[in-house]
Amino acid sequence: MKEKTVNQSAIDGHTYRIFSNDLNPKGTVFGGRVMSILDRLASIVAERHSEKVCVTASVDSMHFLGPAKQGENLICQVAINKAWKTSMEIGTRVLAEAPRAGKKVHILSAYFTFVALDDEDFPTKVPKVIPETTDQIRRYDEAELRRTLRFAASQEIKALRKKR
Ligand SMILES: CC(C)(COP(=O)(O)OP(=O)(O)OC[C@H]1O[C@@H](n2cnc3c(N)ncnc32)[C@H](O)[C@@H]1OP(=O)(O)O)[C@@H](O)C(=O)NCCC(=O)NCCS
Repeated sequence: MKEKTVNQSAIDGHTYRIFSNDLNPKGTVFGGRVMSILDRLASIVAERHSEKVCVTASVDSMHFLGPAKQGENLICQVAINKAWKTSMEIGTRVLAEAPRAGKKVHILSAYFTFVALDDEDFPTKVPKVIPETTDQIRRYDEAELRRTLRFAASQEIKALRKKR
């Protein structure tokens, strides 16, 4: 299976205009709307990389750092950070752009894990990732740490539940 670079599957700058049906009662963008957009974009990246049907297995560290308002645009940057045997971590970053003020603010980051499935819906192997830039190498290393921490937390929770 041929390894692939990050740029082969990345989405850089997908832009979504915020309208009134995207807002929460406070008049800022509804978090679930942003999550849905990111899940779709991350699935595209996972499927470009693996060339398989992919499903969302988990979402980590979804941090809403600031609001975005009606009339602003969401600019989404989505790229694969690392691939293991059958799973891939896709990193997402969203900027809120006030187009007339020429201002962009980082409002959200999150990490999605997707699993590639074969024709019988079993997890199937995916190509390795070749990180090329300094940022891609950092994200590649951080993805491994997040996976280790996720497994460790899950083991600890299982052990705690057994004690009860
Ligand atoms: C994701 C799914 C296919 C994993 O199936 P599974 O039987 O647990 O598969 P395995 O235990 O063989 O694990 C397969 C891979 O998934 C990863 N994985 C499984 N559960 C995970 C989780 N909660 N978070 C992150 N990775 C996970 C494993 O680490 C493994 O990765 P690797 O092969 O790269 O090491 C299965 O749980 C599923 O179908 N979930 C529903 C997915 C879905 O419908 N999503 C849409 C949103 S509702």
